[in-house]
Amino acid sequence: MTIAWYESLARLERSVRFGPPRWGGRGGAGLLLVTVLLVAAPLRSEDGHDAWLRYASIDDAAAQRRFDTLPAVVVALGDSPVIKTAQQELIRGVRGMLGRTLRAETSLPNESAIVLGTFNAVREALPEVGWETGLTPDGYRLKGARARGRTFLLIAAAHERGVLYGTFAVLRKIALRQSVAALDESSQPSAPLRWVNQWDNLDGTIERGYGGRSIFFEGGRVAEDLGRVRDFARLLASVGINGCAINNVNADSRLLTEPYLPQLARIAEAFRPWGVRLAISVDLSSPKTAGGLDTFDPLDTRVAQWWNDKVDQIYAAIPDFGGFVMKADSEGRAGPSAYGRTHADAANVIARALKPHGGVVFYRAFVYDNHLDWRNPKNDRARAAYENFHPLDGRFEENAIVQIKNGPIDFQVREPVSPLLGALEKTNEAIELQISQEYTGQQRHLCFLVPMWKEVLDFDMHARGAGTPVKDLVAGRIFHQPTGGIVGVANVGRDANWLGSHLAMANLYGFGRLASDPSLTARQIAEEWTRLTFGADPRVVSALVDMQLQSWRTYENYTGPLGAGTLTDILGSHYGPGIESSERNGWGQWHRADQQGIGMDRTLETGTGFISQYRAAVARVYASLRTCPDDLLLFMHHVPYTFVLHSGKTVIQHIYDSHYEGAEETQQWVREWRSLEGRIDEQRFAAVLARLEYQAGHARVWRDAICNWFLRQSGVPDAKGRAGHFPDRVEAESMKLDGYRSVDVTPWGTASGGKAVECESPARPCTASFRYQGKPGWRDLGIEYFDQSNGASRFRVYVNDQVVDEWVADDDLPARQPNGSSSTRRTIAALALRPDDIIRIEGTPDGDEKAPLDYVEVKIH
Ligand code: GCU
Repeated sequence: MTIAWYESLARLERSVRFGPPRWGGRGGAGLLLVTVLLVAAPLRSEDGHDAWLRYASIDDAAAQRRFDTLPAVVVALGDSPVIKTAQQELIRGVRGMLGRTLRAETSLPNESAIVLGTFNAVREALPEVGWETGLTPDGYRLKGARARGRTFLLIAAAHERGVLYGTFAVLRKIALRQSVAALDESSQPSAPLRWVNQWDNLDGTIERGYGGRSIFFEGGRVAEDLGRVRDFARLLASVGINGCAINNVNADSRLLTEPYLPQLARIAEAFRPWGVRLAISVDLSSPKTAGGLDTFDPLDTRVAQWWNDKVDQIYAAIPDFGGFVMKADSEGRAGPSAYGRTHADAANVIARALKPHGGVVFYRAFVYDNHLDWRNPKNDRARAAYENFHPLDGRFEENAIVQIKNGPIDFQVREPVSPLLGALEKTNEAIELQISQEYTGQQRHLCFLVPMWKEVLDFDMHARGAGTPVKDLVAGRIFHQPTGGIVGVANVGRDANWLGSHLAMANLYGFGRLASDPSLTARQIAEEWTRLTFGADPRVVSALVDMQLQSWRTYENYTGPLGAGTLTDILGSHYGPGIESSERNGWGQWHRADQQGIGMDRTLETGTGFISQYRAAVARVYASLRTCPDDLLLFMHHVPYTFVLHSGKTVIQHIYDSHYEGAEETQQWVREWRSLEGRIDEQRFAAVLARLEYQAGHARVWRDAICNWFLRQSGVPDAKGRAGHFPDRVEAESMKLDGYRSVDVTPWGTASGGKAVECESPARPCTASFRYQGKPGWRDLGIEYFDQSNGASRFRVYVNDQVVDEWVADDDLPARQPNGSSSTRRTIAALALRPDDIIRIEGTPDGDEKAPLDYVEVKIH
């Protein structure tokens, strides 16, 4: 309904611009009415479903005029469904943005036209327009041409997918208000395979997904309604993604059994018009678990035959099937080691089955021992990928691709580039990036990852002397490999806005744009996305672009210093702080912080030797304390807290400062965002504000947990006197308690003073109160409480007998206890407090959540 209203408004506006309105008869009065409407009109509410493909009406007259000469006809040459999709998309986009409905044709009309087709088709239709060939299959050419006294906008490519990508490029230009009148450009994606992986389970849950339940599966089957799957494919195509593996890498073998084949075919059908190839994750044990053989030994001929038959069956139902993703011998998955075989043996048996059909297997290099002996200082998980795969270089089939996570550990906020990316010379490789923010705030925190990915893709591995950046290695360009790619773990879900957060969608967009064109800068991508998503208001664009570009560094600042890794709860949700959880266990995400110092010594001489996996020119930089960048210092070296960084600060002071700076930056974002009120539709404005406010609170939880922990460990005080000193706080356990009792919180750093209060009785409200003893004036109250997922407690705050705020703690944070993942702040702004006022918090428990409370902070407003 709102859309119709908006469109009619846009129509009215245009009629005002182009001539008197036909309705009403009295132009003057109509104009007045329209003007009043325009001034008063709120921005249309949006739920984020359209993401960056909103095709919002271009309401500025000068910008509209730029498209006056756009032909009125769009011709789709040939009968390719993908080109037909492109034609429909162009009509949809132009209608939304310019308010005109293009005529759809299948052959050249006697007037100017936009022409969509393969090079061959366009050459045949318009032989007089010269074409240079030589573009890769997904590349496209955009060209404005004059012929036969008419104007043509040609969108052409070697392959139908390229035509679709070219069409999206034209639509993007229009949305960005760039003229498309005299285009003459071509573009081709850097790497041939640009895939996303979804980690969806057949029961509808998503591993490390933060945007709701699966769009592909529900209740053990492929979902009935695949509408969102089609919309997802459209989003993917719009940024050049050409493949999607739809299920968890911890794969369920049932997906390879007969009943699923027709179901998978339905998904392939939904993807097909958008040029997205369907792929699935498979388990190496499938011949046994799904096929009933007594073995899955990749060198057994029965196993090879089983894979051949299975793949033939799949292609009979899905002729454009993309292939498989494989996680083997990793985190408890079956693997070739069961039979003393290599990863190449495992990859090849599957690759050979796929080869005749043009399919590929992405074989993941995320292979490590998660039972490493932490007492042995020479042990190092970071070495695992290289040690497992480098010796196999040259032994993989030409349609097998080794899929390598960007860093040697696991999607931490800061890691060096995986040395394996620079080490394979005779093997296809792909880089795996994580769009889903598993270790970077799970979409509740703004963390725009494109700057990180940019650094990784541009990093020179010196794989064949200087000038071998990762982006060229994974495209197969440096060592002339047949293929290669860029893969992103997306994990979109059923939330209207796909990822559970409007701002997180910049990561999905940015992933696709970078995968297609790694030469784009992070700023270009942030700007494009912001304009497409929130419009052209320069204040909005500049504020949001700055926030995004700052946000990775900010997140790092308050969660993990100097390459030590994200200091999160690695044994649980990977969300809140959990500094000790990475130590004294076999998972190998060690930072080795003790009372003297911190960091993993990965040098060859005294440490694990990881650094020597890099080519000499890179290894030299990391090996020396003099040249190792501060950002990676603790990844490469163990140093005392008093070690002085290149920045001139000691390590410990850097830890304090960066955490205070990071937390402060998130508070600044809240102010920035608030200043944009009225410039963004209310729905998205409010949703983003709520997230940013939450983040500003949670960043303090992180800050305090880390600073307090390092203060206690190192015994070195914060030179600025902040860490461990909280003069404005009143701890809940020191308040007057009625029905509440004090409890220890684990880990201790995740609650102020290590303690919280919880209601004793699950059935009765309880209260915590204290007397305000400061000066009279306007005060902000920060109430730090714990919002667990196993209940929805209610809180009510009184000043004397007046209720000043109340809320329900019903967020779905990943914690069932009071800790750093559930800790949440509620701010009550500008209360007029007087000395001796009684501040009372009443908590009403619910389920297993006992209205837990940490502290109250009283600050001058
Ligand atoms: C991380 C993540 C797992 C995932 C694994 C993988 O460890 O926490 O959920 O299965 O990566 O990439 O295979």
